[in-house]
Amino acid sequence: MAKSTLSFVCQNCGAAYNRWQGKCESCGEWNTLAEEDTTGATSMPVSIRSKRRGRLFTLESLTGKSNDAPRLPSGMAELDRVTGGGFVRGSVLLVGGDPGIGKSTLLTQATSLMARAGHRAVYISGEEAVAQVRLRAERLGLADAPVQLAAETSVEDIVSTLSEGPVPRLIVIDSIQTMWTDTVESAPGTVTQVRASAQALIRFAKKSGAAIILVGHVTKDGQIAGPRVVEHMVDAVLSFEGEGSQQFRILRAIKNRFGPTDEIGVFEMTGLGLREVSNPSELFLSDRDLGSPGTAVFAGIEGTRPVLVELQALVAPTTLGTPRRAVVGWDPSRLSMVLAVLEAHCGVKLSGYDVYLNVAGGLRIQEPAADLAAAAALVSSLVNAPLPTDAVYFGEISLSGAVRPVAQTSARLKEAAKLGFGRAVLPESARGDSGGDAGLVLNTVGGLTSLVADIAARGSPRNRDSNKEAHRDNATVEKNATPARFRRQEG
Ligand code: TYD
Ligand code: MG
Repeated sequence: MAKSTLSFVCQNCGAAYNRWQGKCESCGEWNTLAEEDTTGATSMPVSIRSKRRGRLFTLESLTGKSNDAPRLPSGMAELDRVTGGGFVRGSVLLVGGDPGIGKSTLLTQATSLMARAGHRAVYISGEEAVAQVRLRAERLGLADAPVQLAAETSVEDIVSTLSEGPVPRLIVIDSIQTMWTDTVESAPGTVTQVRASAQALIRFAKKSGAAIILVGHVTKDGQIAGPRVVEHMVDAVLSFEGEGSQQFRILRAIKNRFGPTDEIGVFEMTGLGLREVSNPSELFLSDRDLGSPGTAVFAGIEGTRPVLVELQALVAPTTLGTPRRAVVGWDPSRLSMVLAVLEAHCGVKLSGYDVYLNVAGGLRIQEPAADLAAAAALVSSLVNAPLPTDAVYFGEISLSGAVRPVAQTSARLKEAAKLGFGRAVLPESARGDSGGDAGLVLNTVGGLTSLVADIAARGSPRNRDSNKEAHRDNATVEKNATPARFRRQEG
């Protein structure tokens, strides 16, 4: 029965083919197919596949009592926020991130805190030697935490060892790509191995009730490498992100069976490990470039928490036939939409300009509420007029050019007031539900046209280069400004 089956498996998405080809038809990647022996790689172990009669089990009701508290907080508030309140018993969590982003650091800190709180916490490193992990713990000031540590890669050995003694509350496997199981033939690191190893560990978690965290590497385009298949098997997928040059790290839930997926946890990498940042707005606004054109502060909501962040835009004359549109931290298709609305309804001609938009601090915004702030930053850069430094912006722009209300207005306003902002530019219909209780001056805008006219009135295309021209341009800004008014002229 156990015939050896060779097939070509895509190392990116796990699709299998019976002959080699250059491109994976499933995920579109090139040169990702590798020959693997997939004997025994089907999801069931041999014992279950045999024709024995099934074991009888009892069916439970939904109202039954569970004795144990289902969740165990890690002691790191930012981590717990993302997991939805702590680690669930018997659950498996995948943490992905670029190499060097701080996954091992985060999980060393989490296991140490659990161990210090008196729980059995195990850290299995497949990448580093015990001495290296100890060195990191020493640096983090956690060397005294009673974490159980090992450098192992065989899943069978790990499962047997951990089945002894009390059930561990938390097991960290760093990383799943280094694990191998002898139930399948292929080499460690291949999709088949990773999938089989993850399956064995997931089975152990469900059976024992231990919470397992798998660390996964990420490929250059942000996918958790190889085992995208693993993403479907685990209960939650967290992604640890950040920009190499900056100290902020953001932990984000991509999938979560036990909690929300829109929460973020914010950390700062310091010489002594990761520090939790409980007020991210302060961090994201800490090195603002006050008074320069093209920046607008967006009052956003990440999960349940308001977060203020600076949007930076640069609109510059292009030399290319097709102008560049580059965006970091925001949805490129929303940028295209905002640009189209600016062109169609506000007479802002952008086809001769390259447009760059960046969300400061490495944050990734997903809310449509950022439309208004993005539009304000873009127009501000185009007409070279700085926006008021004490203003925050939020509102969704519709294709008709109207500014639509967004949820949680008062939370956004309160956060802005707390950080010392004096006014908010927001959709018209939002005034009622906020009540202005935050003490901010509310500038409501019904349509994008009036916002554009407002910003254009603040400055002229040349006010930075030559002051003598400035008042001439300020005097006459029409509501529907013509394209020529916005064009930057040299000399
Ligand atoms: P690490 O957790 O090993 O990353 P990963 O497991 O995601 O590959 O973190 C590596 C980086 O973090 C490394 O560049 C050094 C930095 N670091 C600090 O800045 N401070 C610290 O206290 C620690 C432990 C690491
Ligand atoms: Mg690591």
